Amino acid sequence: MAGIAALEAIYLIKGGINKSSVSSNEKELFNAGSAENFSNGKTYPYLSNQFFLRRFEDGGFLAMSIKCTHLGCVVNQDSKGFACPCHASKFNKYGEVMAAPATRPLDLFPVIIENGEVLIDTTKPFKRTSYLKSQLTYA
Ligand code: FES
Repeated sequence: MAGIAALEAIYLIKGGINKSSVSSNEKELFNAGSAENFSNGKTYPYLSNQFFLRRFEDGGFLAMSIKCTHLGCVVNQDSKGFACPCHASKFNKYGEVMAAPATRPLDLFPVIIENGEVLIDTTKPFKRTSYLKSQLTYA
């Protein structure tokens, strides 16, 4: 019995620290892990959490919604950014519209870097009209 309780305790502790959702101040924070684990110039899909995490060439992070801003289909990564399989909208690596019918960029989730860990607030994505460098978060 004590062994099972100890295993459960270890499971809960590890789950709480590594790649889990944590409620904090009514936010749902997803811990994607240490910033140093993400290479510059790469996009990492977190489809079950509804976002792509992009680390840009200068080290900045952006978490973009996987949902197309036209009618909400899930976009796919491609060599230039993202493509929607439903009506062919295209987005660049910043999530900006490159081809209609979508008219606005992919929505963003706030990224917070705390103690070197990349946390994404998955409570609610927010809309934007364009990409701005100020949207990036740095370690
Ligand atoms: S839902 Fe993506 S282009 Fe229509």
